Amino acid sequence: MITFEPSILSADFSRLGEQAQEAQVAGSQIIQIDVMDGVFVPNITFGPGIVSALRSSVGIKLDVHLMIIQPERFIQQFIDAGADRLIIHQEASQHLYKILQSIKNAGIEAGVSINPGTSLSAIEEVLEVVDVVQIMTVNPGFGGQSFLFSQLNKIRRLTKILDERGIQIPIAVDGGIDTQTAPQVVEAGATVLVAGSSVFNQQKTVAENLKDLHMSVKK
Ligand code: DX5
Repeated sequence: MITFEPSILSADFSRLGEQAQEAQVAGSQIIQIDVMDGVFVPNITFGPGIVSALRSSVGIKLDVHLMIIQPERFIQQFIDAGADRLIIHQEASQHLYKILQSIKNAGIEAGVSINPGTSLSAIEEVLEVVDVVQIMTVNPGFGGQSFLFSQLNKIRRLTKILDERGIQIPIAVDGGIDTQTAPQVVEAGATVLVAGSSVFNQQKTVAENLKDLHMSVKK
């Protein structure tokens, strides 16, 4: 089953709770909250306070994508704020395995993400620990960027690795996902498609955009 995961990075920040509720009403089971610290990526966005505000706005899963250095400093704060999953970057952690273990031990889902320039070999040792692998299909930091087609082959290779090792976890992709690129990442093996600007934009409603995205991957 293909899941589209709205990313609130592209939502109207003046009415974040409403936009999250629109995604929930449109059938989304999960939304992604992009946390950025201005160091790991050249942008600053949300903190635990926004997660707890959204926790009281919607009942669906809150997936917190930590694009921050030393994410271990904030694991507990985001869990206390109501995160259901924490995704950390391989590039931002000295002790990746240990941090992922600590997230799992806290009773929530753990994910690992890698940037376009990072090879799959950097995460091969944690595939048994995580609940999801998120492949960045843009350079992280901003919504509305163009999809990096070079990452399609990486998605295919990860699909093969997971199949060969019998690891049944979803591949998520994040960045530049729209009705044109969605079928291509699905063909490569991705089943969770994080989408910001193709869901939250001024052209259509959230529900209409999500419908278009789902139609784009219907066989
Ligand atoms: C980049 C962000 C974006 C966001 C999705 O750091 O992670 O990829 O979630 O944005 P769009 O779908 O607009 O590329």
